[in-house]
Amino acid sequence: MKFSTLDLTISPYQYRITPPVTKPNPQLLTDIGEQGMRDLLDRVYMELFDSSINDIFPKNREDMIKAGDNTADFFIQICGGDDYFRQKNGSPQMVGRHTFFNITPKARLVWLEIFRESIEPIITENLSSEENIKSLWNYIDIFSMWMVNTKDG
Ligand code: HEM
Repeated sequence: MKFSTLDLTISPYQYRITPPVTKPNPQLLTDIGEQGMRDLLDRVYMELFDSSINDIFPKNREDMIKAGDNTADFFIQICGGDDYFRQKNGSPQMVGRHTFFNITPKARLVWLEIFRESIEPIITENLSSEENIKSLWNYIDIFSMWMVNTKDG
């Protein structure tokens, strides 16, 4: 079982603790390609659309598809690909861009659980190595802590 050791656990969030972030391995993007990254974010955003945290996301499916594609631009850039996100939106400033939305520790959990589910086909279809997939997971597991800006209600 090639992926039996792939551990995609969610690290507990501690109030205002923002550990240093390591970017995903660029090899992940080389392996899955830009389209693979867009497909991944499309799965994530379609699940978010029907999720318990959909109140903070766009209200119609078309806008949600566009938002997923925009976020894919960011992930392509962060994985060492073309800087589409910067070209279209300027400097990433991820924490600042999230301040418009109330992101609670619980919302982080939902977001990460959906992301984890959406990564599954990359694992089962053997599209990249365990190490590369883990590097993406580590990146979002930690960086998502930076986006939390509201206490659980
Ligand atoms: C902690 C859980 C998170 C929640 C609940 C969350 C929620 C949101 C929401 C509501 C938006 C605005 C709608 C949209 O454009 O999608 C957004 C935008 C975005 N998010 Fe997150 N986010 C989270 C974590 C992350 C992380 C960890 C990343 C990057 C690794 C990320 C990347 C982005 C990007 C690139 C945008 C678009 C920003 C823009 O162009 O203005 N998000 N997020």
